[in-house]
This record gives sequence, structure tokens and C-alpha cells, in this order.
Amino acid sequence: MADRVRIGIVGCGVVASAYYLPYLMRDTRAEIAALCDNRVARAEECKRLFGGGAVYDDYYDMLARAEIDAVFILTAPGTHVPFTLAAIDAGKHVLLQKPMATSMDDARKIAEAVKASDLKVVVEPSSNSPLDPDIAEIRALVRAGVLGKTLWFTSGITGPTAYDKSLTVNPYGQAAFYAKDSGGFLFDMPYAPQGIVGYLGACKSVLAVANIAHREHPIVAEDAYDDFLRSATDPDDANYWDVVLDLPRDVVVPNEAYDNVYSIYEMADGSVGALHIGRVLHPVLPGSGSGALQAFGTDGNLICGAGHQASIITNRRDLLPSVDDDGWYHQPVRGDLSKAKWPQPVPGGFNYYHASSKHLIDCIVDDLDPIPDVDWGLHITEMMAGAAISSETGRKYEMTTTLDY
Ligand SMILES: NC(=O)c1ccc[n+]([C@@H]2O[C@H](COP(=O)([O-])OP(=O)(O)OC[C@H]3O[C@@H](n4cnc5c(N)ncnc54)[C@H](O)[C@@H]3O)[C@@H](O)[C@H]2O)c1
Repeated sequence: MADRVRIGIVGCGVVASAYYLPYLMRDTRAEIAALCDNRVARAEECKRLFGGGAVYDDYYDMLARAEIDAVFILTAPGTHVPFTLAAIDAGKHVLLQKPMATSMDDARKIAEAVKASDLKVVVEPSSNSPLDPDIAEIRALVRAGVLGKTLWFTSGITGPTAYDKSLTVNPYGQAAFYAKDSGGFLFDMPYAPQGIVGYLGACKSVLAVANIAHREHPIVAEDAYDDFLRSATDPDDANYWDVVLDLPRDVVVPNEAYDNVYSIYEMADGSVGALHIGRVLHPVLPGSGSGALQAFGTDGNLICGAGHQASIITNRRDLLPSVDDDGWYHQPVRGDLSKAKWPQPVPGGFNYYHASSKHLIDCIVDDLDPIPDVDWGLHITEMMAGAAISSETGRKYEMTTTLDY
């Protein structure tokens, strides 16, 4: 390998320009060696803004010709499986954006290919995974018994601040996020099942009802992102989310995939809980956080959000670092919640895109094991695929994968 990890980017869209490329241009162990997008002007504009080597309009051409050690797969969901398998076949380390796959057959193909190689593969998102030290801290407390026996939990879509446009996320991306092979909103939101696993550990079964609530979806014309990128001059201020929410949504695309899913998950620890994923209006009171997950046990209660990363009250105070006058432990907020603009990372908080990029480079340079890895991705994929199967068969779906976590 060269002195620096040579990275090829495929998909010069919103996450690339807002998060990954601004990180990579500053990590001295990385080199943006190649940029690819089938709308090649995007790759050219990203090269202008963030630097970088050769530009390609075809991924397989980049894999064959570019001198790269790793690829970041940041394209539309339907491309992830073939692009990952081709990268592994070509001997490249991978950062794979969500969803890993939308079926277990495909997810298993990826896991098997990775395990047969000596390559490092980070499966996004790393938020709500043990790569986030706040999640790891709470998971360790739960394992130590801070909730006693966990009995039940509730969870829903996430969104950290008052926000009144969530009905129509994602507001761009052609049909890529709504076509059947995208997996739709169910597979767009691995954050939610991941949050349950992140705190409570592996899942055992799922019983779900899934349907399509919105048959059509208004989005912003695809060219608007090209215009945005062309006019961008500051690599630290190339975040399309800052403008796209206010642009007219005058292109209507069909939605062919589940966008309203209610699941009951049974976890390996015996707890049972509900998760709703849907395009609902989801504003919350300022400072109250997302309230994304609440878990109750025989000895304790865990609440995420409510102005803190997480809060716990328990009979096992000996396990907690500190408690307030009412007996609650409040995990300190990282970053400035008052400046949070959903769905972007909280400024100063855990930025999963940056953390995963750094982590993949650490894994390659120092021969570490990736977090989240393909086994994690396989399990989270099964929680989502299992929900769809359960809904279609009318039966509880028993998980075939587990995690020692
Ligand atoms: N935007 C976000 O905030 C966000 C957040 C988390 C995860 N993600 C994930 O990141 C990935 C990209 O999302 P995005 O929001 O940047 O989407 P996007 O549509 O802005 O970007 C995707 C890019 O990939 C390009 N592309 C599509 N098919 C291609 C192909 N076959 N060959 C080469 N290029 C191709 C498109 O032209 C586009 O520029 C998705 O997997 C999404 O789930 C996005």
C-alpha cells in the first residue's frame, strides 16, 4: 500500500459533499485518489471543491483502472450489493453506506465475500453502534444490570429537534430512494433497529405490519443539486440539506416500497418492544431531543433524548457515574443541540460519517476489526427484512442471525 490510503469515491451526491469529502480532504492518512459518478459533472465539481485524482463516469471502470486501496460506496441504495461485491472481488477495502442490502440472500453474499477476504469493510451507519462511545457506555451499563431484567421498550423514527418537514424526507435523489429495489423508508432507517440493538443487544424475532402510505412522492428536481454543487465555493459549506428543504418539490415520483411499518421486536434478553418507522410529522419540543427509545426493566428505566444523550434511573445506583437530586443519571450531551438541524449531525457531536471514515482508515493502517462490521450489518438487515417478511406472511419471523454484543 502507498503511504496514504488511496480512496475512490463512488456517488458524489449529498453525503459525499456534505460529510465524507470534507473529512477525507483533511485526514493526512488519506488521499482522495478517484471520484466517480454517472452524472460525471458531479465528480468534476467535487474534484474542484475537495481535490482528488482521476474522475470516472463508470464505477467498474474506476475499479479496473484507478490506483485505489478502498472505495466509499455512496450511491443510491439499489447499487450497493453489486458495487460491494465487485469491490471485494477487486481487492478493495470498503465503506458501504446504508442499506447494506434489502434481502438476506444479498446481505449473506456480501458477508461471505468479506469473510473470505482479508479486507476491511465498515457497514454504515455507525451511529447507534458501538463505534459511538455514548452508545457503548450505555450498553455496558445495561449489561452490568442497570435496568435489571429489561421487559419492554418503545422506539420510533429519530429526529433531534423541532422540525416540521419530515413528512417528505427524502426530498431529492430521483426515484432511487422510492423504487422497490431501494427498500424504501424501511431500509432507509436502519438507525432505528440499530438503536434498539445498540442499547439492548441482539434481536430474536419480529412481528410486523408494513404498508405503503404514500404512493407518490414530491421531490426537488435532480438538477438542483448539480446547480448547488456548481455554485459551491467553500468545501466546509457544501451541505445540500441547508438549502434543499426550502426548494420547490415539483417532481412527483412513484413510491413502490414500504414507508409505514410497525414492528414488535423480541430481543435475546427477553424484552419486547415496538418500533414505528414512517413519514410522520414528528416535531418535538425544543431541547427535548428525539425521545427515540425508552426501555423499562425490573430495576431501571432508560430514556434517550429529553435534552441528554440518555438518562437512566435505577435501583443499582452503584453502577452509575453520577445522579442528580432526583436520582437520574444524565449522559452529557455532546455538541450543541440548540444548533442542531435535523437530519444533520449535531454540531460538535458524534458525526458518524467522519467517525466511520476515520475508523476505516484506522482499520486499514493498524489492522483493526471494523465496527460496525458485516455481522452487525447482517443482523440489522435481518431485523428490517424480517419485518417485511413477517408482514407479507402474517407470521412472526424468527431471526437466523445473532450478535455477541
Ligand atoms: N443524504 C443523507 O443525509 C444521507 C444520510 C445517511 C445516509 N445516506 C446514504 O448515502 C447514500 C447516498 O445518499 P445521498 O443522499 O448522497 O444520495 P444522492 O442521490 O445525493 O447521491 C447519490 C449519487 O450517486 C450517483 N449514482 C447513482 N447511481 C450511480 C451509479 N450506478 N454509478 C455512479 N454513480 C451513481 C448519483 O448520480 C448521485 O450523485 C445512500 O445510500 C443513502 O442511503 C444519505
